Amino acid sequence: MDKMYKHYTVMKKELVESLNCRNQDKIYVDGTLGGGGHSEEILKHLDGKGILFSFDVDIDAINYSKKRLEGYKNIKIINDSYTNIIENLEKEGIKQIDGGIIFDFGASYHQLTSESRGFSFKYDCKLDMRFNQNSVLTACEIVNKYKEDELVYIFSHYGEEHYSKRIARAIVETRKNKKIETTFMLNEIIKKTIPTTNSRIHYATRVYQALRIEVNNELKNIKQILYKIVPFLKVGGIISVLSFHSLEDKIVKEVFKEMSKQCRCEINEPKCICGGPLLKLVNKKPLLPSKEEIKINPPSRSVKMRTAVRI
Ligand SMILES: C[S@@+](CC[C@H](N)C(=O)[O-])C[C@H]1O[C@@H](n2cnc3c(N)ncnc32)[C@H](O)[C@@H]1O
Repeated sequence: MDKMYKHYTVMKKELVESLNCRNQDKIYVDGTLGGGGHSEEILKHLDGKGILFSFDVDIDAINYSKKRLEGYKNIKIINDSYTNIIENLEKEGIKQIDGGIIFDFGASYHQLTSESRGFSFKYDCKLDMRFNQNSVLTACEIVNKYKEDELVYIFSHYGEEHYSKRIARAIVETRKNKKIETTFMLNEIIKKTIPTTNSRIHYATRVYQALRIEVNNELKNIKQILYKIVPFLKVGGIISVLSFHSLEDKIVKEVFKEMSKQCRCEINEPKCICGGPLLKLVNKKPLLPSKEEIKINPPSRSVKMRTAVRI
């Protein structure tokens, strides 16, 4: 683990207040524990009642938050993917989430600013980018093994990179002679390949975002868990989600929309068999961080919060 766990909790008050969990004797879940900022706020609201299950795949986050939250008795911290929440809760004999669940998708500030984990183009280290340090796929594997068209796909779809074809070509050409092992080797390739601009964002930002999403299967995981978890909420249970970029928010918006439709049956179904909507949206438009929060933590300007109630 890096010497210190750095974190900044985005929209802490708004996200936790959306759960209405003050003094509630119910089950709550934080699917993305990170530095434990949202979990701690939930625990403060619960004031010793109910129980909170908090998940993270990153052992740094788990170790840090276990220490941070050791004074609270009604939390169970689980080092597993949020895609396995239901399996873990069922092992505890829980059949429904009657309180609510939150997700704060994306990477933590700690991960993004780590000097050794390969998420940042600022530090020279191995191309890694795994949230879960035990998983097999790394950014190095992708850069050196993926076919050129697969690289083009992830750079353009997950990074919205304008020069994905050129960058993928340059990567494939470079790796014929030497393995691309480090962040600075990758930076060099990107820098040489794309035209210099006055853009405020670093030339490697989009490729790094794309690699991180692919390494951690981020978008597929978000879609999978949202579809899986909504039916597991008890009627009245709340789901509240923070997404950091438009690709994540698009999925949340679409799944919430689909789940709140009056009828979710296939178009050619002669009669409605779906049982009607599963969710009611709390706000039609997403909530955004306050001006004050954006001033203190400028990257939070991209965050969107969506909340819905199980009906
Ligand atoms: C933005 S941070 C959460 C920050 C947290 N809300 C706080 O207050 O400090 C996102 C966290 O989600 C974790 N994460 C990403 N994918 C995950 C998954 N599939 N299962 C569980 N945790 C995941 C990351 O490791 C990271 O720690």
